Amino acid sequence: MIRDKIVTAELEQIFRQALQDIRDASTLHDLQQVKARYLGKKSLIMALLRQLGSVPPEERPAFGKAVNEAKQKVADLIEEHQLLLQEKLYKSELAASQIDITMPGKRSGKGSLHPITLAWQEIEDIFLSMGFDIAEGPDIEDEFHNFDALNTPADHPARNLSDTFYIDNDVLLRTQTSTVQIRVMEKFKPPIRIISPGSCYRNENDASHSPMFHQVEALVVDVGVTFLQLRDVLQEFVRRMFGETIDTRFRPHYFPFTEPSAELDIRCVKCLGTGCNLCKGSGWLEMGGAGMVDPNVFQMIGIDPEKFTGYAFGLGIDRIAMVKYNIPDMRLLFENDVRFLKQFR
Ligand code: PHE
Repeated sequence: MIRDKIVTAELEQIFRQALQDIRDASTLHDLQQVKARYLGKKSLIMALLRQLGSVPPEERPAFGKAVNEAKQKVADLIEEHQLLLQEKLYKSELAASQIDITMPGKRSGKGSLHPITLAWQEIEDIFLSMGFDIAEGPDIEDEFHNFDALNTPADHPARNLSDTFYIDNDVLLRTQTSTVQIRVMEKFKPPIRIISPGSCYRNENDASHSPMFHQVEALVVDVGVTFLQLRDVLQEFVRRMFGETIDTRFRPHYFPFTEPSAELDIRCVKCLGTGCNLCKGSGWLEMGGAGMVDPNVFQMIGIDPEKFTGYAFGLGIDRIAMVKYNIPDMRLLFENDVRFLKQFR
């Protein structure tokens, strides 16, 4: 009996300490250590159980029962506390990885077409609807297509070296899309009815000239093509591009590859002719060159000038975009500042 009391007192103390340690364990790792201390092979409770053999036989059942009950109780409490700690850990992990599903998503900006592309597409649409095909030619050209075949011989002032970017002897960046007139006539027999938009290059750079710029060329060759048809096509194009009220006029001009030649003006889209800063008071805006294909050009390329006539024109696409979208400086078109480009949505 005495022994039993001692064991019970010892057990009582161990049990109370265990309760305290379990409650104090604030992490699963701490709890694991508490579990080892009280229930493991070398634990105090197991040491008591091992003493069972030295307990008088009549006391053994009560002794064993007391220790086993304490052991079971500690095990239960540890498990209970473990669940509590697991839930606490789970909640804190959940809180740390919380995402706010009501937050607005990241907007990816939508791009817009460049004003030159917009003008280019509209120009193509208008001429396609008037029965023109679209032709293309290379930006890097030779003197034959850029000059000689266009009736511009070596001593001609238009071959002025200062304007043309030469890559090599007889290799240059085309100064005009008129090169495509020659390339098309080399390949196809009349009737021909094409436009050819593309890049051109000249050594000049200011508010109204860029070293790289864009033209749209047109060439129509057939039996009985007249200047009147040229005028009507251009008038129709200008009305569709800029509006019904915008008139056109031709000023006599000179180009080596057309005869007669003219420059095309349109009524100032801003002041409609009364005079403003856009048209510099003249009431008119320059759009490009035009004329009847020079018989010399036909002859050089092997088309019979007695049988066929033709007209050609070349308009500035950048100029058209500037007038259409009210862009004051050509350089804006090529700086690609997104604040500028965003306005063409
Ligand atoms: N190629 C000429 C230029 O660059 C424009 C033009 C084209 C004139 C076709 C007449 C006919 O200025």
